[in-house]
This record gives sequence, C-alpha cells and structure tokens, in this order.
Amino acid sequence: MKKLSSSAIAHPNIALIKYWGNKNQVLRIPVNGSISFNLDSLFTKTQVTFISELPSDILFINGHETSGSGLDRVVSFLNFVRELAGKQIFAQVNSENNFPVGTGIASSASAFAALSLAASNAIGLNLSEKELSCLARRGSGSASRSIPEGFVEWFPGETHSDSFAVSIAPSTHWDLVDLVAVVTHEHKKVGSTAGHKLANTSPLQSARVEDTKRRLDIVREAIKYRDFQAMAEMVELDSNMMHAVMMTSSPTLMYWEKSSITIMKNVQKWRASGIPVCYTMDAGPNVHVITTKDYSEEIHQKLSSISGIKKIFTAAVGGKARLIDN
Ligand code: PMV
Repeated sequence: MKKLSSSAIAHPNIALIKYWGNKNQVLRIPVNGSISFNLDSLFTKTQVTFISELPSDILFINGHETSGSGLDRVVSFLNFVRELAGKQIFAQVNSENNFPVGTGIASSASAFAALSLAASNAIGLNLSEKELSCLARRGSGSASRSIPEGFVEWFPGETHSDSFAVSIAPSTHWDLVDLVAVVTHEHKKVGSTAGHKLANTSPLQSARVEDTKRRLDIVREAIKYRDFQAMAEMVELDSNMMHAVMMTSSPTLMYWEKSSITIMKNVQKWRASGIPVCYTMDAGPNVHVITTKDYSEEIHQKLSSISGIKKIFTAAVGGKARLIDN
C-alpha cells in the first residue's frame, strides 16, 4: 500500500480590516484588501495521508468522522490539490482544533491553511509561501492570511495567482493580545461563504469598499509605528462598517447578541479612560477585544465581570503555518 503523509499546524487570524464580499465567488477573490494578525494559542493541527487503496476522501474532525457539507468542502479543496499535482489519489484527513468552530473565531482560516500545507506537502508539491496562500484562499478566503507570519496583509488581486497574503511584520513586532470573549457556543446560522454572496445586496457595501484603501493605509501605518490609538479607531470603524453591511443585506445578517453590545460599549469606556483596548467582531456574536500584553490581565478581569461571557480565550500574535512531525 502506497502512503504519502504530512502534518501541519496553522493559527486562526483576526482581521483588523475585514474581508467581506467577493468579486469572484468560485475563486474567492475579494472585493477589498484586508489586514490581520495570527492568534498564537489557538490552532488547527491537520494530518493528510494519501492512500492509493482509498475509494474516496475521508475526514475526521476532533476524532469524529464527518460527512455532509464539511466533507464536500474538503473534497473540493483536495480536488485542486490533486489537479495541481496531476495525481488521482484519495486522502484521509484528520483535523483537530483547540477552540470552538463556527462561532466567529476563524476556524475555517486555520483549517484550510493547515490543510493546504499538509496536503500539498504530502502529495509531493513544494509550494512557495505565495502559492500556499493562493491555494488556502480557495478553501476559505481568510485562510490565505493564516499562511504567512505575524501581521499579514492580503492583496485582493484579480486572478487566482495574484490574490495572496504576505507578512507585513513578524509576530515579535508588537505585543498585542486578542481576548476572545465567547458569548455563545452555538454554531452560527449563516456562515461566511453564504454571507459574502449577500454583501452586494446591501446599499452600504459600495461605500464600505470605496473607503477601504484609506482604512488599510491607516492600520498598516499604525502597525508599523505601534500606534494603538490610530489603530483602535480604524479597527472599530471597520468592524462596524462590515456589520452595518451585514445588517442591511437581504436577507439581513444580524450577528450581534445583547452581550456583544455590552462588551463593545465597555471597551469604548475603558479606552476613553486611557487603556489601549479596542473591539472587533467577525461573522459571529463573539467579541475580539484587542489590547497590549501589559493590559491583558486587567482587561481579562474586567471582561470576566460582564455577565453573559461564557469563556475568554487569550492569544498573542502568532507565527506562520508550518509542517510538524506526523
Ligand atoms: O474566510 P471566510 O470566508 O470565512 O470569511 C471571513 C470573513 C470575516 O471573518 C467576517 C472577516 C475577515 O476578514 O476575516
């Protein structure tokens, strides 16, 4: 029996300037650029083994065999990998996350980044970081940003090979911390793949996209000079703009819960009192509260006293997707 096996680890990322809406849904080419950082303590570990005798792909997530849409998405992704390698061979994929999936922590980002690296390496492709980022993007747009190290910018591009992400600063550049306040463990009802397709139904989307270059420039500079205040204002504005688009799409997408709003209001109050802290939310009700290492204990304590928070994950800026021993 011929076996080709590799394992990889990748972190989810939190977008400071968000990706919302595609100009090409199939290739997941976004309408706007985005900036994020990887989350070091959260990860997906994925082992891919191509086995000549397998009649089809099989997927295990956290030890449970998975079928339905989750498997379909992985099979379509593995089809690109097989096409790239020119090999018709099926795989067993074992994937493990150390955080809840489908609640607004970008589990698809770390999942497809780890899968890209493990699958391409197992099948014998030796892809560059840029090629890996393009490949990961086909599984989930934001996965393109979980390939490079630290702080990352995804250039939207126009075609498959020019829509990829690069590192703009290493993880050691700035000691930011993301405290992810989990307000529900429920799986979100509308995932981001469906959400991106609705973006253009909002009359606010064109205004959001038009203003993105300005926000990207400010956040890129703020990261470069470690200017928390400048970053905070743009990060909150950007999150609010994306959620305004979501809320005004048809059908409407309303991810905010009562506790999400309480957290956002408190974060603004804490910042007004002089603490470097800001919030951002992805396609889910959980709130990412970003601060610096020096303040993370204090913010953790403050968050713990807000009712409705089920759990808080703490993550510093993380590294790139990498191969690990099988
Ligand atoms: O990569 P996707 O298709 O799961 O989209 C991610 C969209 C947001 O998380 C809401 C924003 C972002 O840029 O990560």
